[in-house]
Amino acid sequence: MAHFSTLLALSILALQTVASPHYQPLAGLSERELAELIPRLNVVIPPPPPGPSKDTLVKLVNNKAHPWMPLREGDTRGPCPGVNTLASHGYLPRNGIVTPAQLVNALQDGYGAQNDLAIGLAYAALLVDGNPLTNLVSIGAKSPATGLDPPNPAAIGGLDFHNAFEGDASFTREDFEFGDNHSFNQSLFNQLVDFSNRFGGGNYNLTVAGEYRFQRVQQSIAQNPHFSFTTARFLTGYRDIAFPTIFFVDGRKADGQLKLTDALGFFRDSRFPDDFHRIDGSNTSALVNNAAQVIFNAHPIQPGGNNGTVNSFTVDTKSPTFDDPCGIYTSFVDIAVSMYPNPQGVLRRNLKLNLGFLHQGFQGCPQVFPYGQ
Ligand code: HEM
Repeated sequence: MAHFSTLLALSILALQTVASPHYQPLAGLSERELAELIPRLNVVIPPPPPGPSKDTLVKLVNNKAHPWMPLREGDTRGPCPGVNTLASHGYLPRNGIVTPAQLVNALQDGYGAQNDLAIGLAYAALLVDGNPLTNLVSIGAKSPATGLDPPNPAAIGGLDFHNAFEGDASFTREDFEFGDNHSFNQSLFNQLVDFSNRFGGGNYNLTVAGEYRFQRVQQSIAQNPHFSFTTARFLTGYRDIAFPTIFFVDGRKADGQLKLTDALGFFRDSRFPDDFHRIDGSNTSALVNNAAQVIFNAHPIQPGGNNGTVNSFTVDTKSPTFDDPCGIYTSFVDIAVSMYPNPQGVLRRNLKLNLGFLHQGFQGCPQVFPYGQ
């Protein structure tokens, strides 16, 4: 059964969509509302994703063409330090409203992400957090610089939207339950520093990630009555925190040891270190898979959540587990279908196309066709 807060969030989202439609998801809108909205949108046929980058060498990415700039009125940033940084350096549109193709190119250029990894992330983002008609997704909330953030982040959509891509027990962002699931949280970063000093010799690395992942889950179990840690979040919750050991470490070093000053730059300021070189991009998908497995192995946790009271963690036997490599793919498809149970017309066409593109990121997995072939 859909969680009450998810239903509430979808209804608020529907209201927001009518008010500010072009990059908001369309879930929760009635057929009539959709019919009224469509003529006001720039509906596009989504183009296929970009192919792999020909240039995968280690290279300077904090360069003259991509200077860090502070936020302007209206720019948007969200829960992901990886894409926030790409936007603040102009690899993505600096306003934070992006297409999946822009995400794929930026992930490949800025970080050396391999094509399948970049496609999987970008099309999942569009499907569960973006507008499938305009082909746009917001990387987060409204800009902190505007001071206009609505009090309820679920109302915003974009990557902030809770329990689609964004989820609980993040390393530097609070749980949705406590009001702000997307802003950098200094107290949580201080905990990460403490764990890095205790387990990483003063750096963030895979050992730190394994211990801090366990700690954050235990904290959420003890504090958040609605704590949820089922796939997709269960699986992305290990991959997200592997990324810094691969993509935030200078590619000339590539030793998996992230300095905390550099970490602070990415997580808080959306900023590459000076002279930052990206990693060699020829093998990054395997590196991410291996790193996530190492983090999981430190404290294997099963997917599950609390059931309305703290300390009531119950394993969810229906959620894909860590040994299901296609679980992320099918979970994102399921989330999209729960948002759009019976799409019609151009919405159905665009969802089918984007689901096909999503599968290009998960080529080893059997393709599913929830809206027919
Ligand atoms: C299209 C590409 C991407 C999308 C849509 C995306 C989306 C997200 C989202 C929604 C979260 C919030 C999850 C949560 O903690 O609740 C997140 C977290 C995170 N992402 Fe990304 N991400 C992308 C690529 C990347 C890349 C390339 C990196 C690294 C270079 C990265 C690094 C991280 C990290 C470190 C976190 C954890 C933040 C924390 O727990 O405090 N992401 N991402």
